Amino acid sequence: MALERTLAMIKPDAVSRGDAGKILARYEQEGFAVLACKKTLLSRAEAEAFYGVHRERPFFNDLCDFMTSGPIYAVAMERDNAIVHLREVMGATNPAEAAEGTIRALYAENIERNSVHGSDAPETAAEELSFHFAGRDLL
Ligand code: RTP
Ligand code: MG
Repeated sequence: MALERTLAMIKPDAVSRGDAGKILARYEQEGFAVLACKKTLLSRAEAEAFYGVHRERPFFNDLCDFMTSGPIYAVAMERDNAIVHLREVMGATNPAEAAEGTIRALYAENIERNSVHGSDAPETAAEELSFHFAGRDLL
């Protein structure tokens, strides 16, 4: 399996609780190399654009409120099978359904305040990496 890149975000709930470092450490333990990492506060327009695929969903407005409620960490990472492996380590969207030991089982508060984001496919990973980082940022 070739090296692959993916985009993670540590969401405002986890950052405000002081769990970002623990989540980053877990990613390193899982074999991800961090290529770039920044703490940033999304604007409303940025949150709406990032989650634009969900624009018609009933939770879209709440999701954008939440994602702009405080700083996040955007993290570009590399690993074999990075996209699928990150989604496995994150666990299900709803922490009540997340497998034991996954980040959402350990840290998430509820289906919205679920601590982490991960790209879900190669096309979205490429889009989301360039949303947060220029190519020269990835080291
Ligand atoms: P993400 O995009 O953040 O990695 O999460 P995901 O793929 O597991 O879930 P997705 O369906 O893409 O939903 C994006 C985010 O929207 C919030 N959400 N709220 N209230 C609700 O029913 C609901 N459903 C989703 C969550 O923050 C979810 O991660
Ligand atoms: Mg998603």
